[in-house]
Amino acid sequence: MLFSFNMLERIKKILPEEIELKNSNIVDIFIFFKYLEDDEIVKKAFGVVEITKQVQENVSKLKKTMFLNKSNFKAIKYNNKTIGFIQLAFESNDTIRLGIVIGDKKLWNQNIGTISMKKIIKLIFEEYKYVTQIILDTAIFNVPAKRCFEKAGFKIYNQDNQKFYLKITKEDYLKNISDYL
Ligand SMILES: CC(C)(COP(=O)(O)OP(=O)(O)OC[C@H]1O[C@@H](n2cnc3c(N)ncnc32)[C@H](O)[C@@H]1OP(=O)(O)O)[C@@H](O)C(=O)NCCC(=O)NCCS
Repeated sequence: MLFSFNMLERIKKILPEEIELKNSNIVDIFIFFKYLEDDEIVKKAFGVVEITKQVQENVSKLKKTMFLNKSNFKAIKYNNKTIGFIQLAFESNDTIRLGIVIGDKKLWNQNIGTISMKKIIKLIFEEYKYVTQIILDTAIFNVPAKRCFEKAGFKIYNQDNQKFYLKITKEDYLKNISDYL
């Protein structure tokens, strides 16, 4: 089978040193707003199959949160260019909830999600000493997201007919710390 240049590009895996997580600035926030104008991204990010009025309201709320709490959004940088974000939400004293979007679809399935998740896991467990677990959830239909989270060390702890609920504990992280260096 002949591979076109484009196909070769798509199978290229990106290396951890090519990805950095940085604090978001106002320019990043407007880049994130753009991602949220894409229906496919919104459906996957919110785990829904259609864009209802409620979903639109949730997108507006998220944009407002981004604007007001920039520090809870890390910009994912690939060769210094902002290509996505990770949201940190403080669920309780010892638990952080994450969300992730890679806004440039051409970069999906090249390991960036996994690398970014590993970097944020390390950052959280190293910097927030009181945090003992990180949680997230994903729609059952979002196969790449589930695969990405499992590659980063998250484990399913619950499931209903719409979502998988995953977590990684500090204990899991410390047991496999060499995967996060
Ligand atoms: C979810 C997301 C962050 C993942 O990032 P990513 O860089 O594409 O993920 P990775 O490349 O690290 O991992 C994806 C894995 O899923 C696999 N995959 C993709 N489609 C698949 C499918 N249909 N069936 C099985 N595996 C699939 C990829 O091959 C890859 O696994 P591999 O490395 O073993 O080959 C990204 O796709 C995204 O931003 N999606 C839109 C928003 C979203 O869904 N956010 C998460 C909401 S919970």
